[in-house]
Amino acid sequence: MITGTLRTTKSEEIFAAAQKLMPGGVSSPVRAFKSVGGQPIVFDHVKGAYAWDVDGNQYIDYIGSWGPAICGHAHPEVLKALHETLEKGTSFGAPNVLENVLAERVIDAVPSVEMVRFVNSGTEACMSVLRLMRAFTGREKIIKFEGCYHGHADMFLVKAGSGVATLGLPDSPGVPKSTTNSTLTAPFNNLEAVKALFAANPGEIAGVILEPVVGNAGFIPPDAGFLAGLRELTRENDALLIFDEVMTGFRIAYGGAQEKFGITPDLTTLGKVIGGGLPVGAYGGRKDIMAMVAPAGPMYQAGTLSGNPLAMAAGIKTLELLRQPGTYELLDRITTRLTQGLLSVAKETGHAACGGSISGMFGFFFTEGPVHNYEDAKKCDLAKFGRFHRAMLEQGVYLAPSQFEAGFTSLAHTDEDIDRTIAAAQSVMKNL
Ligand SMILES: Cc1ncc(COP(=O)(O)O)c(C=O)c1O
Repeated sequence: MITGTLRTTKSEEIFAAAQKLMPGGVSSPVRAFKSVGGQPIVFDHVKGAYAWDVDGNQYIDYIGSWGPAICGHAHPEVLKALHETLEKGTSFGAPNVLENVLAERVIDAVPSVEMVRFVNSGTEACMSVLRLMRAFTGREKIIKFEGCYHGHADMFLVKAGSGVATLGLPDSPGVPKSTTNSTLTAPFNNLEAVKALFAANPGEIAGVILEPVVGNAGFIPPDAGFLAGLRELTRENDALLIFDEVMTGFRIAYGGAQEKFGITPDLTTLGKVIGGGLPVGAYGGRKDIMAMVAPAGPMYQAGTLSGNPLAMAAGIKTLELLRQPGTYELLDRITTRLTQGLLSVAKETGHAACGGSISGMFGFFFTEGPVHNYEDAKKCDLAKFGRFHRAMLEQGVYLAPSQFEAGFTSLAHTDEDIDRTIAAAQSVMKNL
C-alpha cells in the first residue's frame, strides 16, 4: 500500500482485482513495483510529460512508457497520424507503403543499417538477430554482458553473475540449459574478459551483443575505448558485433549510440522509439547479412502483425518530430539539469550517490560509484532507493520502480518540471 498523502483507493481496488486475473496483476513484471516495495499505481491517461492515475493524482513521468514517449505522451501530431491511418484499417498482412517510409528513415539515420526487418517488440528483434548471427557465421556461441537485457528469449536469459557467468546457466525455470550453454557472458566494460572468451573458444563465437549504453542495470555508459575495442576484437575473430539499441536508438542521438560514439556494428536491434508508443521492433544491418533473411534468404523469421500501418505511422511521425533541429540538444540540457540537480541534492543531504545522462536517458545510484558494470551497480543501497521511490511518488514524481532501470525524459519536459522534481528530491532526501 502507498502510505502518506496520495489517494490510492481506486488503484488498490483495480490492482487487487488484477492480481486474481493476471500473474502478479501485471502484463510485464517490473510494473508490479516488486523491487521498490508497495503497490503499483494504476494509470488512467497520459499527456506530454505527465501521467494521471485512476484516483486523479498527477505525476511528472520519467519512464515514458519505458522509452517510446520521447516526444511526450500522446503527442497531437502522432495521434493525428494514427487517426488518419486508422481510417484505412489496422492491419493488412500485406505490403504497405508506410513500411518503406519508416525503413528509409531508419536506414538514413542509423549508420550500420543498410536493410531492415520490422517485428513487434524488442524481444522479437533480439531473438531474430541472434538467429541471424548464427545463420550468417555458422557458429553457435555468443557473448553477452552481465546486466544487459536483450528481451526474454531463452538464449538471453542467462544468469550473468560471477561463477555461473561463463557456464551459461539459465536465469529462469523453463529455460533449458541446452539453450543457454552457448551464451557466454562477460562483465560490461571489461575487454580483457571478452578477449579471454574469444581465446577459449576459437572459431566458435558468432558474435558479441550489447547495450552500447546499459539501461537495464541502471544507466552505465561505456568506458572510453570499450566499444572500439569490441569492434576490433570481433573483426579479428571473424565474429559479428551487434548493438542492441532498443533503448538507445533514436534516444541518445538520432542515429543512436553508434552515431554518438562513432562505432558501427554489423547489426542493430531497435524498438521503443521507432514505434512511437505502438508495439514495434526492428533489426537491421549490413546488406550481405540481411540478405540471409527469408524470403530473400534461408533464415526464417515472420510475423502476422509485423510492419502494420498503425505502428509504422506512429513511428514515422515520431522520427519526423525528432529530426527537427535542436531536439537532442534540448533533451541533453533538460536531462543534464535533472541528473546534476539530483546528485547535488544527494550530496547536500549527505547521501552517497553517482549517476549521469546522455541526451534523454539518465540514471543515478545510491552508491559512491563509479559504476562501470553490474557488479558495481549492485553495491547501491536498494532499501534507500525503495524509500526514495515511494516518497517521490508521494511528491508527484514517477520514477522507474527499480534502481536497475534507466530513466527517460522527453521533449515535453520543461525546466519547471525539472525544478519541481529537484525540489521534491530535496525534501525527500532530507528525511530519507
Ligand atoms: C536493450 C533492450 N533490449 C530489448 C528489450 C526488449 O524489448 P521489449 O520489451 O519490447 O520486448 C528491452 C526492453 O526494455 C531493452 O531495453
